[in-house]
Amino acid sequence: MLMRAYFLSAPPKISQKPTPLSSSRFPRSASARKRAVTLATSAAMADGPAPVVLVTGAGGRTDQFVARGLVRTAESKEKIGGADDVFVGDIRNAESIIPAVQGIDALIILTSAVPKMKPGFDPSKGERPEFYFEDGSYPEQVDWIGQKNQIDAARAVGVKQIVLVGSMGGTDINHPLNNIGNGKILIWKRKAEQYLAESGIPYTIIRAGGLQDKDGGVRELLVGKDDELLKTETRTIARPDVAEVCIQALQYEEAKFKAFDLASKPEGTGTPTTDFKALFSQVTTRF
Ligand SMILES: NC(=O)c1ccc[n+]([C@@H]2O[C@H](COP(=O)([O-])OP(=O)(O)OC[C@H]3O[C@@H](n4cnc5c(N)ncnc54)[C@H](OP(=O)(O)O)[C@@H]3O)[C@@H](O)[C@H]2O)c1
Repeated sequence: MLMRAYFLSAPPKISQKPTPLSSSRFPRSASARKRAVTLATSAAMADGPAPVVLVTGAGGRTDQFVARGLVRTAESKEKIGGADDVFVGDIRNAESIIPAVQGIDALIILTSAVPKMKPGFDPSKGERPEFYFEDGSYPEQVDWIGQKNQIDAARAVGVKQIVLVGSMGGTDINHPLNNIGNGKILIWKRKAEQYLAESGIPYTIIRAGGLQDKDGGVRELLVGKDDELLKTETRTIARPDVAEVCIQALQYEEAKFKAFDLASKPEGTGTPTTDFKALFSQVTTRF
Protein backbone atom coordinates (compact mmCIF):
# COMPACT_ATOMS: atom_id res chain seq x y z
CA MET A 1 0.00 0.00 0.00
CA LEU A 2 1.38 3.34 -0.97
CA MET A 3 0.74 6.00 1.62
CA ARG A 4 1.26 9.63 2.11
CA ALA A 5 1.35 11.07 5.58
CA TYR A 6 0.46 14.61 6.53
CA PHE A 7 1.71 16.02 9.78
CA LEU A 8 -0.23 18.34 11.97
CA SER A 9 2.34 20.26 13.99
CA ALA A 10 5.92 21.05 13.45
CA PRO A 11 7.81 18.58 11.33
CA PRO A 12 11.25 20.18 11.16
CA LYS A 13 12.29 18.48 7.93
CA ILE A 14 9.87 17.32 5.37
CA SER A 15 10.72 15.59 2.17
CA GLN A 16 8.84 16.62 -0.92
CA LYS A 17 9.38 13.21 -2.47
CA PRO A 18 6.19 11.23 -3.05
CA THR A 19 7.82 7.99 -2.05
CA PRO A 20 6.15 5.00 -0.44
CA LEU A 21 5.80 4.68 3.29
CA SER A 22 8.45 2.28 4.42
CA SER A 23 10.65 2.22 7.50
CA SER A 24 10.16 5.93 7.89
CA ARG A 25 11.37 7.81 10.93
CA PHE A 26 10.28 10.96 12.68
CA PRO A 27 13.17 11.25 15.07
CA ARG A 28 12.92 13.07 18.35
CA SER A 29 13.52 16.75 18.02
CA ALA A 30 16.10 18.12 20.39
CA SER A 31 13.73 20.95 21.24
CA ALA A 32 11.84 21.53 24.43
CA ARG A 33 8.83 19.64 23.19
CA LYS A 34 10.80 16.47 23.61
CA ARG A 35 8.59 14.43 21.44
CA ALA A 36 9.42 12.10 18.70
CA VAL A 37 7.63 9.67 16.62
CA THR A 38 9.13 7.03 14.47
CA LEU A 39 6.98 5.40 11.91
CA ALA A 40 8.20 2.18 10.46
CA THR A 41 6.27 -0.17 8.34
CA SER A 42 6.63 -2.93 5.89
CA ALA A 43 3.72 -1.59 3.91
CA ALA A 44 2.96 -3.84 1.03
CA MET A 45 2.92 -2.08 -2.27
CA ALA A 46 -0.27 -2.20 -4.22
CA ASP A 47 -1.63 -0.59 -7.34
CA GLY A 48 -4.07 2.26 -7.09
CA PRO A 49 -4.05 5.74 -5.65
CA ALA A 50 -2.03 6.40 -2.53
CA PRO A 51 -4.09 6.66 0.64
CA VAL A 52 -3.48 9.98 2.27
CA VAL A 53 -2.79 9.95 6.00
CA LEU A 54 -2.87 12.98 8.23
CA VAL A 55 -0.87 12.66 11.43
CA THR A 56 -1.70 15.27 14.03
CA GLY A 57 0.62 16.11 16.87
CA ALA A 58 3.52 14.42 15.17
CA GLY A 59 6.68 16.41 14.77
CA GLY A 60 9.86 15.00 13.44
CA ARG A 61 11.32 14.37 10.05
CA THR A 62 11.27 11.82 7.39
CA ASP A 63 12.71 11.24 4.01
CA GLN A 64 10.13 8.75 2.87
CA PHE A 65 6.81 10.54 3.15
CA VAL A 66 5.13 13.35 1.40
CA ALA A 67 4.25 15.25 4.52
CA ARG A 68 1.93 18.11 5.33
CA GLY A 69 2.26 19.86 8.64
CA LEU A 70 0.12 22.10 10.76
CA VAL A 71 1.58 24.35 13.40
CA ARG A 72 -0.11 26.83 15.65
CA THR A 73 1.63 30.03 14.58
CA ALA A 74 3.27 31.57 11.53
CA GLU A 75 6.44 31.88 13.63
CA SER A 76 6.47 28.12 14.18
CA LYS A 77 5.98 27.61 10.46
CA GLU A 78 8.97 29.82 9.72
CA LYS A 79 11.04 27.95 12.30
CA ILE A 80 10.57 24.71 10.41
CA GLY A 81 11.28 26.17 7.03
CA GLY A 82 7.90 27.58 6.03
CA ALA A 83 7.25 24.94 3.39
CA ASP A 84 4.00 25.12 1.41
CA ASP A 85 2.78 21.89 2.93
CA VAL A 86 2.95 23.23 6.47
CA PHE A 87 -0.40 24.70 7.51
CA VAL A 88 -1.07 27.02 10.41
CA GLY A 89 -3.95 25.91 12.61
CA ASP A 90 -5.03 24.86 16.05
CA ILE A 91 -7.01 21.76 16.90
CA ARG A 92 -9.08 23.77 19.40
CA ASN A 93 -10.40 25.82 16.50
CA ALA A 94 -12.45 23.50 14.29
CA GLU A 95 -12.32 25.75 11.24
CA SER A 96 -8.56 26.04 11.32
CA ILE A 97 -8.00 22.34 10.71
CA ILE A 98 -10.34 22.02 7.72
CA PRO A 99 -7.62 22.68 5.09
CA ALA A 100 -5.35 20.00 6.60
CA VAL A 101 -7.97 17.25 6.35
CA GLN A 102 -9.02 17.88 2.77
CA GLY A 103 -8.53 14.69 0.78
CA ILE A 104 -7.29 12.49 3.59
CA ASP A 105 -8.11 8.78 3.77
CA ALA A 106 -6.97 8.20 7.34
CA LEU A 107 -6.15 10.25 10.38
CA ILE A 108 -3.68 9.45 13.14
CA ILE A 109 -4.20 11.59 16.23
CA LEU A 110 -1.16 12.10 18.43
CA THR A 111 -2.01 15.47 19.90
CA SER A 112 -2.00 15.95 23.62
CA ALA A 113 -2.19 18.67 26.21
CA VAL A 114 1.25 19.17 27.74
CA PRO A 115 1.75 20.41 31.29
CA LYS A 116 4.46 22.96 31.94
CA MET A 117 6.78 22.91 34.92
CA LYS A 118 6.45 25.81 37.32
CA PRO A 119 9.64 27.88 37.44
CA GLY A 120 11.86 27.90 40.47
CA PHE A 121 12.07 24.17 40.89
CA ASP A 122 15.34 23.21 42.59
CA PRO A 123 15.98 19.46 42.71
CA SER A 124 19.09 20.03 44.85
CA LYS A 125 16.75 21.10 47.68
CA GLY A 126 14.85 17.86 47.38
CA GLU A 127 11.87 19.72 45.90
CA ARG A 128 9.26 18.11 43.74
CA PRO A 129 8.43 19.82 40.47
CA GLU A 130 4.99 21.35 40.14
CA PHE A 131 3.11 21.48 36.88
CA TYR A 132 0.39 23.62 35.38
CA PHE A 133 -1.52 24.01 32.15
CA GLU A 134 -1.65 27.34 30.38
CA ASP A 135 -5.02 29.02 30.15
CA GLY A 136 -6.93 27.59 27.21
CA SER A 137 -4.57 24.64 26.93
CA TYR A 138 -6.06 22.42 29.58
CA PRO A 139 -6.79 18.81 28.67
CA GLU A 140 -10.46 19.69 28.38
CA GLN A 141 -9.64 22.02 25.50
CA VAL A 142 -6.87 20.00 23.84
CA ASP A 143 -7.67 16.36 24.58
CA TRP A 144 -11.45 16.62 24.50
CA ILE A 145 -12.48 19.56 22.29
CA GLY A 146 -9.32 19.37 20.15
CA GLN A 147 -9.68 15.66 19.49
CA LYS A 148 -13.42 15.93 18.93
CA ASN A 149 -12.75 18.67 16.39
CA GLN A 150 -10.32 16.43 14.55
CA ILE A 151 -12.75 13.51 14.53
CA ASP A 152 -15.57 15.72 13.25
CA ALA A 153 -13.38 17.28 10.56
CA ALA A 154 -12.20 13.87 9.41
CA ARG A 155 -15.73 12.52 9.37
CA ALA A 156 -16.85 15.46 7.23
CA VAL A 157 -14.37 14.47 4.51
CA GLY A 158 -15.34 10.79 4.68
CA VAL A 159 -12.22 9.48 6.35
CA LYS A 160 -11.97 5.69 6.29
CA GLN A 161 -10.14 5.13 9.57
CA ILE A 162 -8.95 7.07 12.61
CA VAL A 163 -6.12 5.88 14.83
CA LEU A 164 -6.09 7.63 18.19
CA VAL A 165 -3.17 7.39 20.57
CA GLY A 166 -4.21 7.76 24.18
CA SER A 167 -2.74 6.68 27.44
CA MET A 168 -3.06 3.82 29.86
CA GLY A 169 -4.54 4.67 33.25
CA GLY A 170 -7.95 5.82 32.07
CA THR A 171 -9.89 3.24 34.08
CA ASP A 172 -8.81 4.90 37.34
CA ILE A 173 -10.30 8.34 37.90
CA ASN A 174 -7.88 8.77 40.80
CA HIS A 175 -4.84 8.11 38.64
CA PRO A 176 -2.02 10.52 39.63
CA LEU A 177 -1.84 11.88 36.06
CA ASN A 178 -5.30 13.37 36.61
CA ASN A 179 -3.92 15.53 39.42
CA ILE A 180 -1.25 17.17 37.28
CA GLY A 181 -2.15 20.83 36.97
CA ASN A 182 -5.67 19.84 38.04
CA GLY A 183 -6.14 18.91 34.39
CA LYS A 184 -7.89 15.52 34.75
CA ILE A 185 -6.09 14.61 31.57
CA LEU A 186 -6.98 10.93 31.45
CA ILE A 187 -10.64 11.68 31.99
CA TRP A 188 -10.77 14.07 29.01
CA LYS A 189 -8.74 11.70 26.84
CA ARG A 190 -11.15 8.94 27.68
CA LYS A 191 -14.10 11.12 26.74
CA ALA A 192 -12.57 11.70 23.31
CA GLU A 193 -11.94 7.98 22.92
CA GLN A 194 -15.57 7.30 23.72
CA TYR A 195 -16.66 9.87 21.16
CA LEU A 196 -14.55 8.18 18.51
CA ALA A 197 -15.75 4.71 19.40
CA GLU A 198 -19.34 5.89 19.04
CA SER A 199 -18.72 7.82 15.83
CA GLY A 200 -19.32 4.91 13.46
CA ILE A 201 -15.94 5.58 11.80
CA PRO A 202 -13.59 2.57 11.76
CA TYR A 203 -11.19 3.30 14.60
CA THR A 204 -8.18 1.99 16.47
CA ILE A 205 -7.57 3.34 19.97
CA ILE A 206 -4.07 2.69 21.25
CA ARG A 207 -3.56 3.37 24.95
CA ALA A 208 0.18 3.55 25.30
CA GLY A 209 2.22 2.95 28.41
CA GLY A 210 4.98 5.37 29.42
CA LEU A 211 6.75 6.53 26.27
CA GLN A 212 10.48 5.97 26.07
CA ASP A 213 13.00 7.54 23.74
CA LYS A 214 14.53 4.29 22.63
CA ASP A 215 14.94 2.48 19.35
CA GLY A 216 11.94 0.64 18.03
CA GLY A 217 11.53 -2.76 16.43
CA VAL A 218 13.63 -4.58 18.99
CA ARG A 219 11.07 -5.58 21.58
CA GLU A 220 8.11 -7.90 21.87
CA LEU A 221 4.99 -5.79 22.00
CA LEU A 222 2.21 -6.53 24.47
CA VAL A 223 -1.43 -5.65 24.09
CA GLY A 224 -3.79 -5.57 27.04
CA LYS A 225 -7.07 -4.23 28.31
CA ASP A 226 -8.48 -2.27 31.25
CA ASP A 227 -5.04 -1.13 32.46
CA GLU A 228 -4.08 -4.67 33.45
CA LEU A 229 -0.57 -4.08 32.11
CA LEU A 230 -0.15 -1.25 34.62
CA LYS A 231 -0.12 -3.86 37.36
CA THR A 232 2.85 -5.62 35.78
CA GLU A 233 6.51 -4.73 35.27
CA THR A 234 5.95 -4.15 31.55
CA ARG A 235 4.35 -0.70 31.44
CA THR A 236 6.47 1.22 28.98
CA ILE A 237 6.96 1.34 25.25
CA ALA A 238 9.43 2.98 22.86
CA ARG A 239 7.98 5.90 20.90
CA PRO A 240 8.99 4.35 17.57
CA ASP A 241 7.03 1.22 18.44
CA VAL A 242 3.88 3.24 19.12
CA ALA A 243 4.29 4.94 15.78
CA GLU A 244 4.78 1.64 14.02
CA VAL A 245 1.62 0.22 15.57
CA CYS A 246 -0.26 3.32 14.35
CA ILE A 247 0.77 2.74 10.77
CA GLN A 248 0.28 -1.01 10.94
CA ALA A 249 -3.22 -0.41 12.30
CA LEU A 250 -4.12 1.21 8.98
CA GLN A 251 -3.27 -1.96 7.14
CA TYR A 252 -5.18 -4.69 8.91
CA GLU A 253 -8.89 -5.18 9.28
CA GLU A 254 -8.06 -6.91 12.58
CA ALA A 255 -7.15 -3.52 14.03
CA LYS A 256 -10.45 -1.84 13.25
CA PHE A 257 -13.12 -1.11 15.87
CA LYS A 258 -10.67 -2.00 18.61
CA ALA A 259 -9.16 -0.32 21.67
CA PHE A 260 -6.21 -1.71 23.56
CA ASP A 261 -3.35 -0.97 25.93
CA LEU A 262 0.14 -1.18 24.50
CA ALA A 263 3.48 -1.86 26.17
CA SER A 264 6.51 -4.00 25.50
CA LYS A 265 8.79 -6.50 27.12
CA PRO A 266 12.30 -5.28 27.93
CA GLU A 267 14.78 -5.51 25.10
CA GLY A 268 16.48 -8.90 25.06
CA THR A 269 13.49 -10.75 26.46
CA GLY A 270 10.87 -12.22 24.18
CA THR A 271 10.82 -12.00 20.40
CA PRO A 272 10.61 -8.63 18.63
CA THR A 273 7.16 -8.24 17.15
CA THR A 274 6.92 -8.41 13.39
CA ASP A 275 3.51 -10.00 12.82
CA PHE A 276 1.09 -7.16 13.41
CA LYS A 277 -1.89 -9.02 12.05
CA ALA A 278 -1.35 -11.55 14.83
CA LEU A 279 -0.89 -8.76 17.38
CA PHE A 280 -4.17 -7.07 16.44
CA SER A 281 -5.93 -10.43 16.34
CA GLN A 282 -5.16 -10.83 20.05
CA VAL A 283 -7.26 -7.76 20.81
CA THR A 284 -10.89 -8.52 21.53
CA THR A 285 -11.93 -5.26 23.17
CA ARG A 286 -13.89 -2.59 21.32
CA PHE A 287 -13.39 -0.05 24.11
N1 LIG B 1 4.51 10.99 27.26
C1 LIG B 1 4.13 9.81 27.71
O1 LIG B 1 4.79 9.14 28.52
C2 LIG B 1 2.85 9.20 27.20
C3 LIG B 1 2.37 8.07 27.83
C4 LIG B 1 1.24 7.45 27.32
C5 LIG B 1 0.61 7.98 26.20
N2 LIG B 1 1.08 9.12 25.61
C6 LIG B 1 0.38 9.62 24.43
O2 LIG B 1 1.26 9.67 23.32
C7 LIG B 1 0.93 10.78 22.49
C8 LIG B 1 2.13 11.65 22.32
O3 LIG B 1 2.53 12.04 23.59
P1 LIG B 1 3.82 12.92 23.83
O4 LIG B 1 4.17 12.90 25.24
O5 LIG B 1 4.83 12.57 22.79
O6 LIG B 1 3.17 14.32 23.54
P2 LIG B 1 3.86 15.66 23.13
O7 LIG B 1 5.23 15.52 22.79
O8 LIG B 1 3.60 16.62 24.19
O9 LIG B 1 3.04 16.06 21.83
C9 LIG B 1 1.81 16.67 21.88
C10 LIG B 1 1.57 17.25 20.51
O10 LIG B 1 0.26 17.81 20.50
C11 LIG B 1 0.35 19.04 19.84
N3 LIG B 1 -0.67 19.95 20.29
C12 LIG B 1 -1.01 20.27 21.56
N4 LIG B 1 -1.98 21.19 21.56
C13 LIG B 1 -2.25 21.45 20.25
C14 LIG B 1 -3.15 22.33 19.60
N5 LIG B 1 -3.99 23.11 20.30
N6 LIG B 1 -3.17 22.35 18.24
C15 LIG B 1 -2.34 21.56 17.54
N7 LIG B 1 -1.45 20.71 18.10
C16 LIG B 1 -1.42 20.68 19.45
C17 LIG B 1 1.70 19.59 20.23
O11 LIG B 1 2.03 20.59 19.33
P3 LIG B 1 3.04 21.77 19.73
O12 LIG B 1 4.36 21.15 19.55
O13 LIG B 1 2.73 22.83 18.76
O14 LIG B 1 2.75 22.12 21.14
C18 LIG B 1 2.56 18.35 20.12
O15 LIG B 1 2.96 18.15 18.79
C19 LIG B 1 -0.23 11.47 23.16
O16 LIG B 1 -1.41 10.99 22.61
C20 LIG B 1 -0.14 11.01 24.60
O17 LIG B 1 -1.40 10.99 25.21
C21 LIG B 1 2.18 9.76 26.11
